[in-house]
Amino acid sequence: MNVLGIETSCDETGVAVYDTATGLRAHALYSQVALHAEYGGVVPELASRDHVRKLLPLVRKTLADAGMSVSDLDGVAYTAGPGLVGALLVGAGVARALAWALDVPAIGVHHMEGHLLAPLLEEDPAQGRPEPPFVALLVSGGHTQLVHVEAIGRYRLLGETLDDAAGEAFDKTAKMMGLPYPGGPQLAALAERGRPGAFRFSRPMTDRPGLDFSFSGLKTQVLLAWKDSDQEDDTRADIARGFEDAVVETLAIKCGRALDATGCDTLVVAGGVGANTRLRARLQAMAAERGGRASFPRPAFCTDNGAMIAFAGALRLQAGQHDDASVKVAPRWDM
Ligand code: KG4
Ligand code: ZN
Repeated sequence: MNVLGIETSCDETGVAVYDTATGLRAHALYSQVALHAEYGGVVPELASRDHVRKLLPLVRKTLADAGMSVSDLDGVAYTAGPGLVGALLVGAGVARALAWALDVPAIGVHHMEGHLLAPLLEEDPAQGRPEPPFVALLVSGGHTQLVHVEAIGRYRLLGETLDDAAGEAFDKTAKMMGLPYPGGPQLAALAERGRPGAFRFSRPMTDRPGLDFSFSGLKTQVLLAWKDSDQEDDTRADIARGFEDAVVETLAIKCGRALDATGCDTLVVAGGVGANTRLRARLQAMAAERGGRASFPRPAFCTDNGAMIAFAGALRLQAGQHDDASVKVAPRWDM
């Protein structure tokens, strides 16, 4: 079964074809980062318009890269939420029209389920593909959640952020220290030059039991340290390192607790912050200390992409699910 996946929930237009027999056939991504950079954040209306411009050419390119034509498609999956409503409607409209014209089923996919299943998308040459049950850490710009994946489609929320998401904390902290949008990856790159321990920030909510997170206080601590400092480039790198270490350590402590609480030995990590090198190394070490493993998608499939939507949609279509005739998107939607 060849499934086309379309992702347009925010500022990336992502398209992919996943074949349930042979795996990922092709994927393409168009990032709107440059478009939004001068505004310091995503402008929803500009995002929708750019998806309109880029989506169909990207579908054509992806099919050409896969050596396929539209008539080879057996289903179309698209992100139905959560996300920016206008942006979601572009993907949903194109996906539903295409499916209708081809007379194949369409399926709306939850964006976070896409992220959550991304670590299963490709074979890990060293460790094979992770199998449920496992614990998933979802760390993106909009979400920070720990989920017990009992089976595909059976998800139990273990904990989540009470305020900022981890990616949001990266982005806001970067902005406070004058780094250009999008700040998260820039802050992480800067932290590479910083000295560990030069600045130490707290590990929020780790001194009491529980699996929830809070990152907004950490951001304030960093702001105070930055304002108090000489604001030189080296100092900024030291502060970035202190901030990154605090986030990474907090996530590692909670992930360890989640593995212990569920009795799982496998942690999968997904969402944009999962591209963070230091987080990947720390979580791998934490899981290994417990005799388990941590599994990550390749960095390009940590951030938003069409491949994860094609894959999640293919699993649902294979299970016999598909949409009815109405076009619905959900800007807010619990998984
Ligand atoms: O999953 P994603 O692409 O979009 C959402 O659904 O939110 O995640 C984007 C988030 C942003 O907040 C970005 O700053 C963060 O992931 N991010 C990173 C890194 N790469 C992306 N944060 C820390 N280190 C990185 N290397
Ligand atoms: Zn995302």
